[in-house]
Amino acid sequence: MPWYSEEKIEEVRSRSDVVEVIGSYVKLKRSGNGYVGLCPFHSEKTPSFHVNPSRQMYKCFGCGVGGNVITFVMEYENYSFPEAMQFLAERVGVELPKGEMSAEQREREGLRSLLLEINTKAARYYYAKLKSPQGRQGYDYLRARELGDETIVHFGLGYAGQGGDELYRYLKNEGYSDSVLKETGLFKMDERGVYDKFWNRVIFPIMDVNNRVIGFGGRVMGDAKPKYLNSPETKLFDKSRNLFGLNYAKQGKRKNVILCEGYMDVIAMHQSGFTNAVASLGTAFTEQQANLLGRYTKEVLLTYDSDEAGVKAALRAIPILRHAGLNGKVVHMEPYKDPDEFIKALGAEEFEKRLSDAQNSFFFEVDVARNSYDMHDPEQVTAYYHEIAKKLLVFPDKVQRDNYLEAVASQYGIRKDDLRELVIRYGSQLPDGYQELPAERTVPQKKKTQEQGITHTYRLFLSWLIETPELYPLIRDKIRPEDFVEENFRIVAQMLYQQLEQGELLPAKIINHFTEVESQKMIANMFQTDFQTAMSLQEREKALNELVLRIKEYSIDWKMRSLTDMSELQSLIIEKKRWQTPEKLHISLKDGNS
Ligand code: GTP
Ligand code: MN
Repeated sequence: MPWYSEEKIEEVRSRSDVVEVIGSYVKLKRSGNGYVGLCPFHSEKTPSFHVNPSRQMYKCFGCGVGGNVITFVMEYENYSFPEAMQFLAERVGVELPKGEMSAEQREREGLRSLLLEINTKAARYYYAKLKSPQGRQGYDYLRARELGDETIVHFGLGYAGQGGDELYRYLKNEGYSDSVLKETGLFKMDERGVYDKFWNRVIFPIMDVNNRVIGFGGRVMGDAKPKYLNSPETKLFDKSRNLFGLNYAKQGKRKNVILCEGYMDVIAMHQSGFTNAVASLGTAFTEQQANLLGRYTKEVLLTYDSDEAGVKAALRAIPILRHAGLNGKVVHMEPYKDPDEFIKALGAEEFEKRLSDAQNSFFFEVDVARNSYDMHDPEQVTAYYHEIAKKLLVFPDKVQRDNYLEAVASQYGIRKDDLRELVIRYGSQLPDGYQELPAERTVPQKKKTQEQGITHTYRLFLSWLIETPELYPLIRDKIRPEDFVEENFRIVAQMLYQQLEQGELLPAKIINHFTEVESQKMIANMFQTDFQTAMSLQEREKALNELVLRIKEYSIDWKMRSLTDMSELQSLIIEKKRWQTPEKLHISLKDGNS
């Protein structure tokens, strides 16, 4: 993986217009002096995703993501920093330097790229093992499950051998350090030594939408427990944001996506021509996965197992799909347990029929509800009516709700007028009239933890400075970058001051300095203004002076805490006192520089 100079990074960034790049993924509308759209990283019906052309940054006020054009590509495409660079460079026709580095240099360059590289090597290793004499057992197992050679190659299936530390030794030999190998999740490391996590299992490499191996699943070949073992979450592998098989499904021509439970289901379906099948990764279906699917399709067919757990999983997935604006349908596979078994027993043609008979997910919910009531008991029938009425409130649109009401009433022999009356009654109890009932969230909204007082102050100050660079000469001698006691803020302040000194204000450039999405988001957040621009001049002046004083006091307190020398302490106390007298500090604003 090559390494890029700051100039190169900035060249690629500045040539890639943030509005143009994001606009190729997200429908943006002009709003004020920027653009807004529906956030691609969380479900929403009203746009809170803002793109700012003059700052060349984006920010979602709903879920908090934000950054520059490189951050966006990293987040959206799940790319590492260098990959995002390559992607954008190609797009704008900038030539990037090639050249290999040593493993040690690469380690510094970015853990994510390194983890990708190791995963690719591990996947090749497992695959080679499957094809070797020692992999016979695994190969026979896959063949017994009716997978052809082509399918095995297509999905890169593999075999983890007899245990011990085979894979570990192989990767050590390739020059990777223990600290990096630890981050792959492929090993158990304790005081007794290092062991391969996967052994005596067939291996399913898990790829993201861009065909990169981000993790692994492994299945025992018999009845031992646990049946499946999956990679833990790593810097690379976020289970809630990926779907097994999506890298292939997204290329398909079919208009919908089939969502199922297991790796084997996906593989069996693809082998039978249903190349639009994907699976969530051994965990419940999430809102982010729904959003991911929403990039490629509007209709999702659920083929969860036909047992009780499968029904439960479907009931959890349906509101999530609905919330993401996707049309969900439920495929019935009775009397078989899952698509894999169904296809083996009845073949692809029969499965195709079941797909076209897929049931509207709302009717599926009604059916399940109905089963829990005794239709011979008037009390229970009443309760059932009430439940259906409440369910109908998930449709915020009146026409849609009425259509469902009519359809449910006629299909289930419910008196239409009674049902309508209940819907109106329950609807009026909702705080905002008919509003979508909150879908069960699998990802709790990031808690807005009370931000540490001082970082909030830093953020306001830096945002203000970026918004109003004319302030710089007024505060330059009062607050110095060294006054920021938090390292990231200090780095940002240093770069910002340097830019202001040179008269070129490019906040998006500052983000280049950080190569991890998490830090980029944090930096982008530093530039988020949430003070009232509607304040009067006097109010602004007061607010600014307070900010400056708080930063200064904190900086002095910080120095005091780390002091041992009493005489220095004295002088710091005096300095603090001086700042607290209004004459010393006072910054006065005139119209035009506020
Ligand atoms: P086969 O028996 O191989 O056909 O598997 P299946 O796809 O029918 O699996 P099942 O319905 O039992 O499970 C569906 C999915 O849940 C699997 O693909 C795994 O991702 C996950 N899963 C199943 N069993 C386990 C387990 O024991 N541990 C973990 N972590 N995940 C599991
Ligand atoms: Mn199965």
